[in-house]
Parts: sequence; C-alpha cells; structure tokens
Amino acid sequence: MTNEKVLIFDTTLRDGEQSAGIGLTVEEKLVVAKQLERLGVDIIEAGFAASSPGDHEAITTIAREVKTPIIASLARCVENDIDLAWEALKKAARPRIHTFISSSDVHLMDILNKDPEQVLTMAVKSVEKAKKHCDDVEFSPMDATRTDLEYLYRLIEATIEAGATTINVPDTVGYTIPSEFRKRIELIKDNVPNIDKAVLSVHCHNDLGNAAANSIAAVEAGARQVEGCINGLGERAGNASLEEVIMTIHTREDIFGLTTNVDTTEIYPTSRLVSDITGFIVQPNKAIVGANAFRHASGIHQDGIIKQRTTFEIMDPQVVGWSSNSLVLGKLSGRAGLKSRLEQLGYSPDDTELNQIFDAFKELADAKREITDADLISLMSSHRRHVDIKESYKLDHVQVTCGDQQIPTATVTILFPDDKLVTDASTGTGPVDAVYKAINRIIEIPNSLTEFRVDSVTEGIDALGDVTIRIKNDDGTFVGRGSDTDIIVASAKAYMNALNRACVASQ
Ligand code: KIV
Ligand code: ZN
Repeated sequence: MTNEKVLIFDTTLRDGEQSAGIGLTVEEKLVVAKQLERLGVDIIEAGFAASSPGDHEAITTIAREVKTPIIASLARCVENDIDLAWEALKKAARPRIHTFISSSDVHLMDILNKDPEQVLTMAVKSVEKAKKHCDDVEFSPMDATRTDLEYLYRLIEATIEAGATTINVPDTVGYTIPSEFRKRIELIKDNVPNIDKAVLSVHCHNDLGNAAANSIAAVEAGARQVEGCINGLGERAGNASLEEVIMTIHTREDIFGLTTNVDTTEIYPTSRLVSDITGFIVQPNKAIVGANAFRHASGIHQDGIIKQRTTFEIMDPQVVGWSSNSLVLGKLSGRAGLKSRLEQLGYSPDDTELNQIFDAFKELADAKREITDADLISLMSSHRRHVDIKESYKLDHVQVTCGDQQIPTATVTILFPDDKLVTDASTGTGPVDAVYKAINRIIEIPNSLTEFRVDSVTEGIDALGDVTIRIKNDDGTFVGRGSDTDIIVASAKAYMNALNRACVASQ
C-alpha cells in the first residue's frame, strides 16, 4: 500500500524573506528556488507580487525557470493584488494564487475596520477573481487560531464554494499549542460540509517555539499540506522549520503512515545554501541541520554509537545529507580529489566552476595545512557569493598596519566596472574601521553598519575566519559575508559583498 502524501509548501522566499534584515536579490532567490526544486518541495511560495517590483520580478523569474513544483504568489483579497500575482505567475507550468485576509475579531477591528460579513464577501470575491486566472487557488484566513470557530467554518465553506482548492489555517502569531490546534483542525474537518473538496493546510509561526509541533499535531488531525521555511526562518521567531516537520514525518512513519515527496538527502545542502545566502547562521544545536545535531560528546554516548549507531541516533545523518567521510584534503590534493569531495558534500561543480574553486582551494591549502569539509563548504559559499551577486566593485588589494603603539591605517585598492583601479587610504579606531573607511572613500554608498560578526570555520589557529555583516541605508538592509584566513581581509570581503548588494538594489 502506498502511503498518503503530505504536501510540503515552502515559503522561505516569502514569509522567510520577511525576516528582519534578509533582503535577497532576484538571482539569489532563483538559486534558492532551484535548490528547493532539488529538495522536492511540492509548492514554492516565491513572493508577494504586489508588495514590491523586486518581489514581482523574482516570482516572474522563478515561474519561468523552475518547472517541477507549483509556484505560488501571495495576494491580499484585493483585485489589484490578485491581478499582479497572476501577471507574475502566468508563465509558470503550475501556478497558484494564494489569497488571504484577516479573520479574527482583533484583526477585523484594529486592522481592517470591517465587519465579518464584509470580510467574507471580500474573501469570496477574491477567490472567484483568482479562479478566473488559474484553477489552483489557496485561501488563508489570517490569524485563524484566534478566530471565532463558527465564523471560521462559514468562511472556509464559502471560499471552497467559490473555488479554493487549498484552505490554509495559519497560526499567524504562534499562539496555539499542539492539543488545541489538533482539536481545531478536527473541528474544521467535522463542521465544514465541503472540506473534502480542498486540501487542508497549516501555517504555523514559532513565537512560543511550538511551530513544528503544532504542524505535526495538525497532520495527525488530517492536514495534508504543511507550510514552513528552511531553517525555521520567517517573521519574528520564524515559521515552522520544514526540515523538522519533514524528518518527523519520515522518522515516525510508524505513527503517521505518511510520506512526503522530499529527497531528504537534499535537506542539509538546502539548509546550508539558505544560511549562506541569507547570512542567518544556523544555531549549533538546531535539530536536523545544526552543527551539533549528530555530534556525540559524552563518553557513554560515543561508546554506544561505536557499538551500534541507533543507540543514540534516531536518524542516519546521511539520510538528511550530512556527509559520512571526514577525509582531509591538502596542498597535494588534485582536481579529481576536490571534485569528488565536493560531490560527496552535495555540490555539483561544472568544469569552469571547478577550475575557479580549485584556484581558491590551492591558495587556502598554502595558508592552511589541512582542508576540512567545513573549509570546503566555506570556499563554496564564498564562490557562490561572487557568482550569485552582480559584483560592480571588486576588492583588489588591502593592506593594514596596526598595533598597540600605532594608529590603525588601511590602504585599499578597488577594481571598478570600467577596469579602473582606485586606491585610497584611511586611519580608523581599529584595523577593520580603517579598512571600511578607506573603502567608503572610494565607493560612495552611504550606509551604517548594523551588525558585525566573526566566526571561525574550523578549530585551530590557522582556521578560516567567516565574517558576516549587515549594513543599512535608504534602499534597505544588506547582508555581506566574506571568508579568509586573515580576518581583516575577510572583513573587507564581507563589506564589499554588502556594498555590491546595496548597489544592485539602488539600480
Ligand atoms: O502568518 C500568516 O498568517 C501568513 C499568511 C499570509 C498566510 O503568512
Ligand atoms: Zn506567516
């Protein structure tokens, strides 16, 4: 007997992108969407077409290029939103319009200033309007977990009658708990007469840390679509972490008797890519994808694992895409060794890409005796950063003098788009400040630095330093990442990365 499927709806590019300080370019969103396609999610919510021209363009591009999953755009229950969503989606092989309106009393009163009947009419009209564009229409009553149940039944019944093929029940403010949410889903199933004409979906936020557990409780009650984000990104405390939901269904198939279409071995590469591109580091103890998720520190646990893996591991790390090999590469390793290792780590570089990475690999191998998987992942991340973002300005050279008896002074040379090299120098309160001030003298993009973080990629004094920064200006907030064995150079690279993003946004 084949198990029933739970559809996985990824909203990393919409709700995830709403996380404060993300702001992805269209190219970056496309890279993420292609990886989500490899992961095997059923639906990608590519954005909210009416929210900005950038979102509209990203949806259009993803709809054109990514053909296996359904591509969705969010739209308020407003005619113009629905038309814009369709305009962005119309080239998709499988388009979906996802329209939503608030349904709780507090939202109706304090946000919409409308009564429940007016909202019901708007919802029905919007679903009917969306239906004229495409067959696949999802409706979400926003703040459904704080909505009067009798009203919720009527709203759902009316929107299904109007043509909605998926009904999504959002826990918009992360308020519910598993037992309560399970009951609500069961009540919806029992009290909405036409509920079997739509797929029942849930969309949980993580304000109380219950998003994944609430989603799973809803699945137990009969929900067959779960919405969430990779690495649990999303508004405020985030959305349900998709990798947690997927692996719960997968690992406890004995309870649920359900499956998904996801290729679980793509989970870890997807998590890493999303973290690289967004600059949102995954906490080490994060379930499934955190660095410590499969590390065993205590002697008793290590002993158990050596005797039999399942003593302390409920999942095989390779099933979620962690590599099994801890082979170390060095300066004598060749292209073939590098390629094979990268492939084991889930990358598939073509010859051009491999050549570029090989040069960076050799440079790193000169500075560092052993190149570990973490180093390779960091190399790939910085390579992607250059490819996925249009680099108007390139760092050519940076030199710093500093010390306890010196005024930190930096000299920086930058390559301009017209191949002109420009050099300038500055002093600063410290070496990074001096470098950033020198760069500012050359590239005049006003901004303020809102975050600066240095992480070590591996252990050891020769480790790569990974710098993540965020800068802010009138065009938005931009992340920048850079890595190098020299943390001042890594800081300069991170700043250039952020400035190039700001430059794309201002065009
Ligand atoms: O959290 C929420 O309610 C949403 C809806 C737009 C689905 O993101
Ligand atoms: Zn949401």
